[in-house]
Order: sequence, then C-alpha cells, then structure tokens
Amino acid sequence: MGVDITILVGTMTGTAEMVAQEVQQALETAGHRASIQVMDNLDAGVFQRGGNFLICTSTYGNGDVPDNAQALINSLETWRPDLRNVTYGVIALGDRTYKDTFCQGGIRFDKMLAELGARRAGEMLMHDASSGTLPEELAAQWVVPWVEQYLAPLRQH
Ligand SMILES: Cc1cc2nc3c(=O)[nH]c(=O)nc-3n(C[C@H](O)[C@H](O)[C@H](O)COP(=O)(O)O)c2cc1C
Repeated sequence: MGVDITILVGTMTGTAEMVAQEVQQALETAGHRASIQVMDNLDAGVFQRGGNFLICTSTYGNGDVPDNAQALINSLETWRPDLRNVTYGVIALGDRTYKDTFCQGGIRFDKMLAELGARRAGEMLMHDASSGTLPEELAAQWVVPWVEQYLAPLRQH
C-alpha cells in the first residue's frame, strides 16, 4: 500500500533540494511513493488534482520565500484556488540568527495554503541552520512517522 506524496522544493543554494532527496529516500524505503518537483516554473495548477504535498523550502531576504518559489506563491495569492482537496506538511529551513523572520518562507506557504482551504497534517518541521544539526538527517527521521501518523490513516481503500 503506502501513501503518495509530492515534495515541492523552494531553494536558493540547494539545501532544501538535498533535504527533499533524503526525505524521498526515507519514504520509499518505508514503502511510500514520493516525487520531487522544484518550484521553478510552477504555478497554483500544481495543486489542481489535490492529494498529499510536502512543502520543503528555505527563507531569504526579509523573511521571504526563495526566488524559485516566488511565482508559485504569487499565483496562489492571485488565483486563490479552492484547495480543500489538498493535505500538506511543511519542512521549513531557516536560521535563528535572523530572529523575527526565522523560517518565514515555510510559514508563508503554510498561511497561504491554509487560507485556501488546504489542511495541514501535524506540525511544521523547522530547521535552524545555526543549531549544528543537519536538516537532511532531521527531516529523514521526521518524515516517516509524520506520514504514518497523519497521512496513512486518510488513505482511500
Ligand atoms: C542571504 C540570506 C538570507 C537569509 N534569510 C533568512 C531569514 O530571513 N530567515 C531565516 O530563517 N533564514 C534565513 N536564511 C537561512 C537559510 O534559509 C538557510 O540557510 C537554509 O538552510 C538555506 O537553504 P537553501 O540552500 O535550500 O536555500 C538566509 C540565508 C541567507 C544566505
């Protein structure tokens, strides 16, 4: 059986993409199916068919999403699609030395998706680059229990 999940990656220097690859591997080892799409050139249409999504994004500028995520978040803001058939989780990468804008990129996606009717499964995972921990390790340990607690019970039989 297993769960299908699409991982959407917002990144500037590649960390979030590496995290997504480790997460994909952990999910597939556990018998789930995960595909990765970097956000470049994506718009709100990516959510059209509904299903399970994992937003994996860093934060830049003044608490902004990375450049490759701008078009996606702008199109969600403009089109305002009905996302009631979407369930999502968030892996937010940030750095606590930025204090007030810590992980705001992921937080912006969370707010936007929730506003459009999508349902967040569980809590966001937030990684602090100044903590000395590796985001790919933390995320790979977090993701399978997250899927099994929140997404597997929703699976259609
Ligand atoms: C110029 C710059 C600005 C950043 N701004 C923020 C920020 O406002 N808030 C935050 O939590 N992290 C901020 N970060 C930290 C990154 O989000 C973090 O290092 C992340 O792991 C980078 O992931 P990426 O390689 O996928 O882009 C910033 C990093 C850089 C280099």
